[in-house]
Amino acid sequence: MKTGIYPGSFDPITLGHLDIINRSSKMVDKLIIGVLRNRSKHPLFSAEERVDLIKKVTSDIDNVVVESFDGLLVDFAQSKGADVIIRGLRAVTDFEYELQMAQTNRKINSNVDTIFLATNIKYAYLSSSVVREVASYGGDISHFIPKELMSAVYAKYNV
Ligand code: PNS
Repeated sequence: MKTGIYPGSFDPITLGHLDIINRSSKMVDKLIIGVLRNRSKHPLFSAEERVDLIKKVTSDIDNVVVESFDGLLVDFAQSKGADVIIRGLRAVTDFEYELQMAQTNRKINSNVDTIFLATNIKYAYLSSSVVREVASYGGDISHFIPKELMSAVYAKYNV
């Protein structure tokens, strides 16, 4: 059985993330979405909220589970018996950081490998920080995140 981990901050989950989740869930038997707890001291959504939002929009994918984690990704992967880490690459600008992270992770734990999926061109510009920025001014985020999550994001900015 192949288990994959798709890690990230997901603050909040975007349509680009969801596209990677849909595609990678077909490549493994089980896909664990790992929500990093301690990335930023002031995330927009708490880890619990981010997990709940992701669960809401992935409930139709049978082999997906959503969990938060703390500490090193490879330790979380090992504890879950995962073989592979999945990351999306939007553009060349992502590559340097992602390559460094993949190589570091492999140095720390050679049992876990990383594979990259090219982000759907539709979402190449998209990031959680873009969503937060636009939402903070009350702008339209309907092209960026699943519609059912929009009100939760606006509520954080009282818009
Ligand atoms: O969506 P993000 O914020 O780009 O995700 C980054 C994430 C969570 C994959 C990365 O920061 C991570 O794995 N953090 C956990 C600590 C760790 O294992 N760092 C890797 C050593 S370079």
